[in-house]
Amino acid sequence: MLTVDEAFRKFKSRLELNDKEQKNASARQTEVRDYLVTKFAIDRSFLTGSYARHTKTKPLKDIDIFFVLKESEKHYRSKAPSVVIGAFYDALVEKYGKDAVRKQSRSVNVDFGVVIDADDNTDYRVVSVDVVPAFAAGDDYEIPDDDTGKWIKTNPEIHASKATAAHQAFSNEWKGLVRMVKYWNSNARHGEKPVKPSFLIEVMALQCLYGDWQGRFDYEIQGFLSTLADRIFDEWPDPAGLGPAISNGMDAARKQRARDLLMAASRDATIAIDHARCGRNGEAVKAWRALFGPKFPLS
Ligand SMILES: Nc1ncnc2c1ncn2[C@@H]1O[C@H](COP(=O)(O)OP(=O)(O)OP(=O)(O)O)[C@@H](O)[C@H]1O
Ligand SMILES: [Mg+2]
Repeated sequence: MLTVDEAFRKFKSRLELNDKEQKNASARQTEVRDYLVTKFAIDRSFLTGSYARHTKTKPLKDIDIFFVLKESEKHYRSKAPSVVIGAFYDALVEKYGKDAVRKQSRSVNVDFGVVIDADDNTDYRVVSVDVVPAFAAGDDYEIPDDDTGKWIKTNPEIHASKATAAHQAFSNEWKGLVRMVKYWNSNARHGEKPVKPSFLIEVMALQCLYGDWQGRFDYEIQGFLSTLADRIFDEWPDPAGLGPAISNGMDAARKQRARDLLMAASRDATIAIDHARCGRNGEAVKAWRALFGPKFPLS
């Protein structure tokens, strides 16, 4: 039987991006780009979001790809966000089919039909990507936001440098802990994602996971879950100070539900810690597995 620390280390490494996955993500990006350049005047495209920052959890779903449009497509910028989303949707449906393509408020999702097994493995393949139409705006980008009906500003470089700084300040354990809690959040056991968008977990971690890494995954996770529960009702602005508040994704009822689930998870973590403290190692590992899901190893 693994010790709790060994189990956490294995869990952490299972949530790390590996070469095969990166190759598959690049191949999918190239595939989508090579198609979309036949439909739109695209200046460049790049993998971004949590994938590029190494804060995405597994299975790899909804990897963000920005498609920076050329000046000649600027007519879209003066129209409602739904227009460019609709145009990208129509184009992608032509290639991937209606069942694989979905409109979202800021992107179009393309599902590659990858099977996720009971252990949350996908044979190193990306399940889906979020195709995000974008215009360059100085150092920032403008992207459509059908929720507000407006174009919003964003800056992935600022989000990336904040994540890197937090990671380094926390003995290089910050991103691993963020991926773990995002894994908890995405687990189907809840029936829905408690925290929405999951980017909010990372944004909150910029303030809630700091100080010195104490060397114990179990304590850090318990404390992090409990702080998330405490502060889920706070207003969480875009860390780059450009887009709408990240906490706008949930209404009051949803925040209450998130708080309840985070508090329950934090109590479960306390029980798991207690098992280990009393020498019940096997029980402790099982309790963490029940909390996180199949990627937390039992052996
Ligand atoms: N309200 C916002 N204002 C500005 N930029 C945002 C906002 N929300 C998200 N972003 C940027 O867009 C990226 C993609 O958003 P998304 O919701 O997919 O988050 P994510 O960090 O990629 O998390 P996930 O792992 O859930 O995909 C974010 O990583 C962030 O850089
Ligand atoms: Mg994303």
